[in-house]
Amino acid sequence: MKLEPREIVDQILPHRIPALDLAEAYAPANIALCKYWGKRNEALKLPLTGSLSISLAELGTRMRCRVAETDGLEINGETQAPDSKAFRRLFSFLDLFREAGTCFQIQSTNTIPMAAGLASSASAFASAVNTLNLLYGWELSDRSRSILSRIGSGSASRSICPGFVEWFCGEQADGMDSYAEAMDVSWPEFRVGILRLSDAEKAVSSGVGMQRTMDTSVLYQSWPAQVERDLPVLREAIREKDFACLGKTAERKAMAVQATMSAAWPPILYWKPESVVTLQGVHRLRADGVEVYATMDAGPNVKLLFLEQNRDEVQSAFPDLQVVQPFGTTCQD
Ligand code: PMV
Repeated sequence: MKLEPREIVDQILPHRIPALDLAEAYAPANIALCKYWGKRNEALKLPLTGSLSISLAELGTRMRCRVAETDGLEINGETQAPDSKAFRRLFSFLDLFREAGTCFQIQSTNTIPMAAGLASSASAFASAVNTLNLLYGWELSDRSRSILSRIGSGSASRSICPGFVEWFCGEQADGMDSYAEAMDVSWPEFRVGILRLSDAEKAVSSGVGMQRTMDTSVLYQSWPAQVERDLPVLREAIREKDFACLGKTAERKAMAVQATMSAAWPPILYWKPESVVTLQGVHRLRADGVEVYATMDAGPNVKLLFLEQNRDEVQSAFPDLQVVQPFGTTCQD
């Protein structure tokens, strides 16, 4: 039996009558340490494996939604045409939640670049669900909001929670057991560095990229088994605050998933020359004894993982680095 997204949403929502005229909410972006790459159900965005991420605190999306006479969308102050990709994608998601005839004027403000492998869709869909939750007065649990966000964009399931977050693969056909949950670990010294090498929109969307990889890449076969082996290693490294183990596992997973993509046909290569230069810079720093690791997603940008104690060395090697403190401010900047 094929399950439609609206049927799943029906099972979760208590009603579809707005309680307010206006609501506003935020969700952070997240960077996967063990990637989600491959779906077992396209419509419900059910993954083939679990994944684990770190949420990016103040980098994310703030969404404001007003009940109105017509639909409208502004992103970072710019009006989006009704036939634009962003408009169509967001409103077909919002259609799952509203009755026909309810219209929304949406203002979305991103503190993270869109569609360049910096997880803007994750924070956008999670902030949409958080905003609707307030607008309709649903008072949904984190788990329900994670399931609903997942239907918009798989990685959005993880943007409901702060800190380290695990998205469980689940087994059920309706996806009610495929949601994300925060790990109960605070690591104040943990840093994520964002290197914006390009804000250009990617040529192959993550959805198309993962499907093509599953269909054509000979290297993909080993991916689910690798994740099964490495997820517990990452979980343990986070609980034990074993940074070397976390960094090494995350970088290897990132490189392994990029390898599955480059063996797809036509090949998917999100890297730009600057990405390679940056990765080699990271290798050099490590050879000099600085504990820094890299990860990449469906785009050319590189994200670095390091601890506060190495911040000066990392920042002087990469002067354009934007440093995120996922667990809040712990020292004078
Ligand atoms: O949720 P999507 O369709 O944007 O896919 C995200 C895929 C990666 O960013 C490459 C990996 C991940 O787990 O976030």
